[in-house]
Amino acid sequence: MKRNRRPAEPAEHPKKPESAGVSISRRGFVTGAGATGLAVAASPLALFAGDASAPPADGTPEQIHLTWGEDPTSTVFVSWASLAQAVNPRVILEHSPTAEKTIHAIQRSYTDGLNGQTVFTYHARLEGLKAGSTYRYAVTAGNDRNRAQPFSAAFQTAPRGRAPFRWTSYGDLATPVTSWVLSSPQSRHAVRAVEQFQPLFHLLNGDLCYANLNPAAQPAVWADFANNVQLSAANRPWMPCPGNHEIEFHNGAQGFDSYLTRFALPHNNTQFPGLWYRFKVGSALFISLSADDVIYQDSGAFVAGPAPLQPAPSTGNAPLAPGSSLYVHGYSGGAQTRWLEETLAAASKDLEIDWIIVQMHQDALSSSKNGNGSDKGLRESWLPLFDKYGVDLVLCGHDHDYERSWPVRGCNHNVGRDAATGATVDTCQPNPVMTAEPPDGKFDTGRGAIHLILGGGGTSAPLNAYGINSANGQPQARVITRANRPVPGSVTGTFTKGSADALEDAIWSARRNTITGYGIGVFDLDPGAAHGKTSITIRYYHARGADTVPTSNYEIFETVVLAKYRRDLRHDAES
Ligand SMILES: [Fe+2]
Ligand SMILES: [Fe+2]
Repeated sequence: MKRNRRPAEPAEHPKKPESAGVSISRRGFVTGAGATGLAVAASPLALFAGDASAPPADGTPEQIHLTWGEDPTSTVFVSWASLAQAVNPRVILEHSPTAEKTIHAIQRSYTDGLNGQTVFTYHARLEGLKAGSTYRYAVTAGNDRNRAQPFSAAFQTAPRGRAPFRWTSYGDLATPVTSWVLSSPQSRHAVRAVEQFQPLFHLLNGDLCYANLNPAAQPAVWADFANNVQLSAANRPWMPCPGNHEIEFHNGAQGFDSYLTRFALPHNNTQFPGLWYRFKVGSALFISLSADDVIYQDSGAFVAGPAPLQPAPSTGNAPLAPGSSLYVHGYSGGAQTRWLEETLAAASKDLEIDWIIVQMHQDALSSSKNGNGSDKGLRESWLPLFDKYGVDLVLCGHDHDYERSWPVRGCNHNVGRDAATGATVDTCQPNPVMTAEPPDGKFDTGRGAIHLILGGGGTSAPLNAYGINSANGQPQARVITRANRPVPGSVTGTFTKGSADALEDAIWSARRNTITGYGIGVFDLDPGAAHGKTSITIRYYHARGADTVPTSNYEIFETVVLAKYRRDLRHDAES
């Protein structure tokens, strides 16, 4: 295996085949060549069979990224994509200094329902790995242009048992290619920030690349996102959850076909594989959820008009009329919530689990003024389960800012008001169990869950303005308590969707970052000693000034410590 080949820089794409002496960039290839060019990409085998003199279709791996399998101590997926269908796609794993093993990858593909491009992705399941070990691997295929020196990198498996480890998180990343809607150069710095902190893994909490805001070129946006992310995700697992901008027209019943094709994730044994999952690292259980299933907000794919959205003729898909939206509220028919309760109930009895951390995209507790706000659907469907089974930490994005809640448990009824009429509304206002810093500086999340909004990955739209109740100067939140389906706009033929319909005092809001919307959460879990306390130290770093000039400089904004007794102590007390 060739060593020392650094992961490709995000901007570096494998050389594209040339046509008539003209080199066509990926963007030109996709948006300029239209359906004809895409058809070439979708038919690599025809090139092999029909014209011996033609160059082989390009199966060079790109967009290389890692995810955990069900057990992060022993199973890791290596995933990638190639411009055309790969021949014999495989990973070569160095499992001892002198021995290599070849793992063949399975192919997933989908054809984008709007522009007709077929996307090929590959997933190799590396299993039987040793815990807490470093492995080097290479990714290649029979039609890999870099076959002589394939891409290689190294990763680390999770430690077994109670052990210290670090993870990082943010959401709302976008791509560095500024011609895409909501993309920003900051997304490149954000990926490098993960590498700077060297976590065991990264949680990417939804709104990955906003492909659905670029409907004519969704696969190209995904490719730019994944080639940017590769700089880090080829070295350590990036564990995603779907956000509202992963919902795409004509790409599956819920619009998640692109997302699901690209990520190999732990199974959940339901008919919705890949959309929610759990995994355990050390003494922490991580639960990743698909919040679009329970939120009221309609924030997926949407045609604002006045023109309809016209899919490429090759797709055979019908135009989407102005006002169309892909609203997936309730899509699992309760399956996800049942799975969540079963998972939490089991975790609450597992004496090896000290911490339960939830990742989901949308916010139950957000006082953003210019973003989305809080969603009552989450408060009704999942917060009672978080309370019942002792979830410690909830990591979200969606609003492109940073906000931390006090530990919350239970809720106060009928204390909100309608944003238009002032009438009383039941927003299920979360109840803070404390509203001051703890005397010893350490929060006991055994009393209530802390919610963090980490929505400052790298979009072009930071949203770090927050609501204030003008009557008392205290934080105020906007709350979505009902579906905001499209309604006719002020211009004929256009449609719009309402924003949050209710207001409440954000008595649960502990800290809001007004300086910048960009940042990264860094979490260090200390398992502590037997019969003692365990802790998680949260350091939130923000990219001051990134709102005007993209920057690689992430500075500390605040440090928060969570501490609680280990479960093994409770075990001793009970036994
Ligand atoms: Fe977002
Ligand atoms: Fe979002």
